[in-house]
Amino acid sequence: MPAQNNVAVITIDGPSGAGKGTISRIVAKKLGYHYLDSGALYRLLGLASKRHNVKLSSVKALAVLAEHMDISFKTGTNGDFSTHLEGEDVTRELRTEEAGLLASQVAGFPEVRAALLKRQRSFAQAPGLIADGRDMGTEVFVDAPVKLYLTASAEERGARRYKELLEKGENVSLPALVEQVRSRDERDMNREASPLRSAEDAIEIDTSEMSIQEVTDKVLNLLAIKGFIPHP
Ligand code: DC
Repeated sequence: MPAQNNVAVITIDGPSGAGKGTISRIVAKKLGYHYLDSGALYRLLGLASKRHNVKLSSVKALAVLAEHMDISFKTGTNGDFSTHLEGEDVTRELRTEEAGLLASQVAGFPEVRAALLKRQRSFAQAPGLIADGRDMGTEVFVDAPVKLYLTASAEERGARRYKELLEKGENVSLPALVEQVRSRDERDMNREASPLRSAEDAIEIDTSEMSIQEVTDKVLNLLAIKGFIPHP
């Protein structure tokens, strides 16, 4: 099984709302692999810059913070993943719209992306890694033996976000959310530094009409075909 540092790395890239996070966690638990939520690194940097009053225009200072910020990812006894900044559990805070916006701003700087490369690669530990993000297969783990690219229509991703926010008791408009998804895609796909795109050797899965279970089964099937797990 070819791999990064002899560790099996499976990359799962795609736009937000395509189901990467959910599927990555399920598959990582199932295989007993480590999990890299690379979006969380950009979110953590956004939060750390706010806490340390580092201006988003100070790209050098941001890159230093990216390299040295005190962060940790933990897996609880129930298998749940949590994220910590300077010893504090910030898992929930990271999911806010504000954290997402800060993340997308810092993620646009090539210096920041370069500073986070080594940290991301250090997650490749035995027995294996599920790496979730935008450029896992195209930049960070180019030699990964399995690369997946999850997509879904903007309408479907907006509807998923709508449901999530309604469940949290937030008052939102579906057309506005679909528009937000479209403009975020536009930004992610057209930025200069590591734009979102499918790696040439990635397998694309359109999850628009699929349930979480169906996508999980499809991914596990692919991993069985590639020899990562026994055939179900
Ligand atoms: O996946 P997410 O919503 O947590 O990502 C937060 C932001 O970070 C989003 O604007 C895209 C960016 N990102 C990135 O540029 N590269 C990655 N590998 C992961 C996320």
